[in-house]
Amino acid sequence: MKVAGKAYRSIWLNDDGWRVDIIDQTRLPHEFEIVTLKTLEDAARAIEIMQVRGAPLIGATAAYGICLALRRDPSDEALEAADARLRRTRPTAINLMWALDEMLATVRNLPRDDRLAAAYKRAGDLCDADVETNAAIGRNGLKLIEDIAAGKPGETVHILTHCNAGWIATVDWGTALAPIYMAHDKGIPVHVWADETRPRNQGAALTAWELGSHGVPHTIVVDNAGGHLMQKGQVDLVITGTDRTASNGDVCNKIGTYLKALAAQDNDIPFYVALPHSTIDWSVADGVADIPIEERDGDEVTHLSGRADDGSIVKIQVSAPGSGAGNPAFDVTPARLVTGLITERGVCEASTEGLLSLYPERKT
Ligand code: MRU
Repeated sequence: MKVAGKAYRSIWLNDDGWRVDIIDQTRLPHEFEIVTLKTLEDAARAIEIMQVRGAPLIGATAAYGICLALRRDPSDEALEAADARLRRTRPTAINLMWALDEMLATVRNLPRDDRLAAAYKRAGDLCDADVETNAAIGRNGLKLIEDIAAGKPGETVHILTHCNAGWIATVDWGTALAPIYMAHDKGIPVHVWADETRPRNQGAALTAWELGSHGVPHTIVVDNAGGHLMQKGQVDLVITGTDRTASNGDVCNKIGTYLKALAAQDNDIPFYVALPHSTIDWSVADGVADIPIEERDGDEVTHLSGRADDGSIVKIQVSAPGSGAGNPAFDVTPARLVTGLITERGVCEASTEGLLSLYPERKT
């Protein structure tokens, strides 16, 4: 997607052909800063401190993290250590484990001298495939928006989203936002309610920035506004992303998604979740019970960062000193609250049967 008229992906190889460039998402929307990753540790830290975030982009960064590690040392021991280091960075987004599995399967059985080139090739292919996959998700989700638009000719379709599942959460296009970009580009009048998404404000800082850069009308709302907007008939559709989808259709996404799904059901509003195949964890049969939820630093709850009037980026404390804070970063929305899953292969029911109808090769 474009930033100030220039096309970007969220991660790309530097002109030198080996270092890896990313957009530092901790600086957005105030500063557009490109950071260059040179080592395995750079890649691991970028994921941990959320310079990169969003399930597919976490996976892509980990893939390049393996490349950077192999550049220093292509031995089995170094490969295993790199894999273990990256796997520890963030526990919930399954794309991380998926991408690492793909990288290991590619290089593990190769002679040491062949590993580096094969790793860079595979990481690049994973990134290209992510872009294609998300474009397909966009086309499949577009039909849902077109149907709603057809039912209210000349009127705007209002879509609520939570967190950021846009192009900077993936390599390009995004998952939840891909259908919205496509609808907008096709001339369908769309408007997005962007939940601010406390504690890290990915909605206010990233989703709104992305949509604004592309010219998509949007409004930031506090996380607690969604139910009210739905009650008042101001939301036609909810689309979110997911960090891990269980084989029964339960979806794990940014904390607060579950509450939106409950409100959507109470108000008869379709609640869709957009995801690539790499976000499905076929080994988890019950998402509510078995998806590990990342617990992050309470500091993210007690403090806020943003731009002060003098232009400087500052961090402020919003709580009384000494108050403890809990910070579960994700929650799981049970499949029964999900109207459908938008994948690169089509839209299906959020259930084992629904997923298997699109991914029959997973039938045992
Ligand atoms: O903690 P984050 O910012 O990595 O969480 C991101 C989300 O919850 C997204 O909705 C999810 O990864 C889907 S991204 C296409």
